[in-house]
This record gives sequence, structure tokens and C-alpha cells, in this order.
Amino acid sequence: MAKSKTAFFCTNCGAQSPRWMGRCTACGEWNTFVEEVVEKHDSRKMGSGNSFKTESKPRLIHEVDMTSVKRLHAGSEELNRVLGGGIVPGALMLLGGEPGIGKSTLMLQVAMQMQDRKVLYVSGEESDMQLSMRASRLGYKHPACYVLTETSTETIFSHIGNIKPDVVVIDSVQTLTTDHVDSTAGSVAQIRESAASFQRYAKESGTPVFIIGHITKEGSLAGPKLLEHMVDAVLQFEGDHNNMYRVLRATKNRFGSTSELGIYEMRENGLREVPNPSELLLSRRDDAVSGVTVSATIEGLRPLLIETQALVSSAAYGTPQRSATGFDLRRMNMLLAVLEKRCGFRIAAKDVFLNVTGGLKVSDPAIDLGVISAVLSSNEDMPVGEKTCFAGEVGLTGEVRPVTHIEQRISEAGKLGFEEIFVSRHNLKGLEKKNFGIRVHPVTRIDQVFSLLFG
Ligand code: TYD
Ligand code: MG
Repeated sequence: MAKSKTAFFCTNCGAQSPRWMGRCTACGEWNTFVEEVVEKHDSRKMGSGNSFKTESKPRLIHEVDMTSVKRLHAGSEELNRVLGGGIVPGALMLLGGEPGIGKSTLMLQVAMQMQDRKVLYVSGEESDMQLSMRASRLGYKHPACYVLTETSTETIFSHIGNIKPDVVVIDSVQTLTTDHVDSTAGSVAQIRESAASFQRYAKESGTPVFIIGHITKEGSLAGPKLLEHMVDAVLQFEGDHNNMYRVLRATKNRFGSTSELGIYEMRENGLREVPNPSELLLSRRDDAVSGVTVSATIEGLRPLLIETQALVSSAAYGTPQRSATGFDLRRMNMLLAVLEKRCGFRIAAKDVFLNVTGGLKVSDPAIDLGVISAVLSSNEDMPVGEKTCFAGEVGLTGEVRPVTHIEQRISEAGKLGFEEIFVSRHNLKGLEKKNFGIRVHPVTRIDQVFSLLFG
């Protein structure tokens, strides 16, 4: 019997190697190689996709007819905006999120809301009956939404050939298997091959395809990073299980910006769009208290508004206590020294406690300005307005330094209902005329911020 051929794959980037390696030469990650069975095959034969093939020929870029490309309305306003104004025909989109966050619910709702389109919802996780029950419980009726419980990529394509849907949803990529690869569902090789055949199908037939993907504990999409390179858009659905709000954002989008976000609320009858997201933050703070500020930070590629709390009190004993949760203690001490030296505030004899709420650890230097303002607000016992936020790094001379992705931070703050944001003046070059729907205070030094805040 012929021995099946194996190869080693990096679980991080999908690089292939005939031998096991401790460190991936492609992405530099340690200990990510796993052995998987592969079979030599001609990948061009995949996906029974030949029937979708149209003859290709090079064309001049300005002669390509774009007027025929019409984005489809995604059914959900929030999703529509996140995608950059609708679904582009032939786009392959990946929706990632933790288990139980509501990915299946979102895609089923989107499918059911596209009333004038023929939709095929393929699930490898739920039966037709479960899907139909969920759809009717959510109160939807659709004249042409097909459900299919199937995990074999080849069988799915033969059904696609018969039904000829306008939109395809695959729930989830980890359940797909293809005969061309001889390893289990969810393995790197299976995910890559199955996704590749959907990529070809989407491009050749012009049908948009949504693929749902699970997320690992570390927060990255399970399966190779390669999957993120293959698709046109990566959407992340996130939120706290104890919290009913869910945020949808694009971390990659070939057809639009990645600074838009969509906000949903999980109700007992499905997801509801939240058109006015400021309700999300405002409900949590009843009245303004001193020592609390909000900073617009970036986590990876994602903008995130983070609350910092500071408590400054007179030291009861000789040596003042300094403690920071979720923020580097040395950096806090440095910021306190800057406050003392450059602004003349006497903090040396005070206890300072700092807490980043939500259990987050922040390493983004843009939080500096928010931290310093929280400390000062607590020290003076004067609250900072609850619709004020900050994004700026603080240097040793007390200058406010520019930070990366400023447009994303400002528009996120505006979207979340903040009314003013303090940023470095140097950050606003070229953006002076842009309207973010939020008041932007350009500042150069921290004393300037304080006089604007506390008069
Ligand atoms: P689901 O879409 O199955 O999650 P995923 O596909 O991301 O794993 O959503 C599951 C959760 O959503 C489940 O824990 C219950 C909750 N939920 C509601 O609160 N209301 C609803 O109407 C629905 C359908 C689900
Ligand atoms: Mg699901």
C-alpha cells in the first residue's frame, strides 16, 4: 500500500516544510509546526469549479467596465457600513469570533434579510431543522433561502451548481473537508484547500461568499494566518458574553476602510442593530467622578476606547505607594515625574493607584495623556467631562507627541458618542479640514491640556 505523504505546516502562517522546525522561517514563530497528511494533487482541479470558469484575458485598466459592478445591500445597515457600503460581487469575506458570540445568528439574520436574493446557508454545525427553527423564532420569512447541512466541499459545490445562489454563507470553515487533502476537518491543510476553492468560486462566478471562522483563545482566527490573506475582508464579531453588546469591525477590507464599526445588541429574539452607540458607554457612568478618563487606544489593528481610573491620596506613611493595574508601573512613575517636574504639581508625597478597567493590559503609548489627566483629575478632585477623551503620548519634556492611526481613533471616539478629543497638534497635519463629527483639540504640551480641562 502506498504510504500517505505527510508534511509539516506552521499553524500561524501556514508555511509548509518537509521537516519539523522549532521556529518557522516564514513568520518567526516558535513551536508552531504540526504534521499533517497531504496528498499530492493538482490544486487547479479543485472545487469542481471548472464550470464557473470564464476565459481570462488581459485588459487595459481604464477600459474595465466598473459601472456594471453594483454592491448588494447586506440586509443589515451596520454590516453594510462595515463592508464599506454593501457586498461587492465576488467578494470572499471571513467572519471571525469566539464560540457563542453570535456569528451564526448574525449570518442567518443577514441571509434572511436579503429578501430579493437567492441565499444558500451551508452549516456543518447545525441541522436544517435547527436553522429553520431559529429563523422562525427570530421572526423571519424568506422566499428563497436554502439551508444545507453538509461538510464536504465537493458536495457543496455540486449543490451550488444546481441552485445557483446569489449569496453563499459557510458556517464554519473549520467543519469543511475536501477529498483532495487527506487530513481531518479543521486542520491547516483542509482549511486552506477548502477556503481556496471558495475563493476561486467567488472570483469566477461573481458570487459573494461569507465564511464563518472560529477564534482561538489567544484571539486570532483559528487556522493559518494564510486564511486572512486569501479573503477580501476579515470581519471580527466581538463582545463580552456577560454584556449584551456586540461589535462588528473589519480588520481587513479590500473594498472599504477598516475604521468603521457596527454595533449590535443581543436580545432574546436575535441581534438588534444599535444605531446610536453612545448609549453603550453613557449608561455605565451615572455622574461624573474625578479620576476617570477615557483614552482612544489601538489594540492590534483595532481601535478601542479604554477607561482609566486613578486615585491619588496623601501618603499615610513615609514612602508613598504606587500601584498600576493594566499599565506599566515604570511608565506611570515616569509620567508622575514629568507631572512633578514640568508642571509643578506636587505628587511626590502622595499614594497613586491606577487601574485600567475591563481587565485589559494596555501597552499603547497613546493612553499616556489619559493617564496623566486621570491622575490630575483625582489630585484636584475635579471630574473630567464624561464625553471627553484623549489620544496622545507624553514625552519627558511634557510635550504631547503624535500617535499612530489618529483618524481611526478620532472616528471611533466620534462613533461612540464622545464630543471632544485631545490629540497632539502634530497629528493633525493634513486633517485640518476633515470633519469627524467630534471636536478635536490640538495640543502641544500637557499644561495646555490641563488649563483647557480644569481652567
Ligand atoms: P450563535 O449565533 O449560535 O453563536 P456562534 O455561531 O458565534 O457560536 O449564538 C449563540 C448565543 O446567542 C447563544 O449563547 C444564545 C444567544 N442568543 C440570544 O441571546 N438570542 C437569540 O435570539 C439567539 C438566536 C441567540
Ligand atoms: Mg455557530
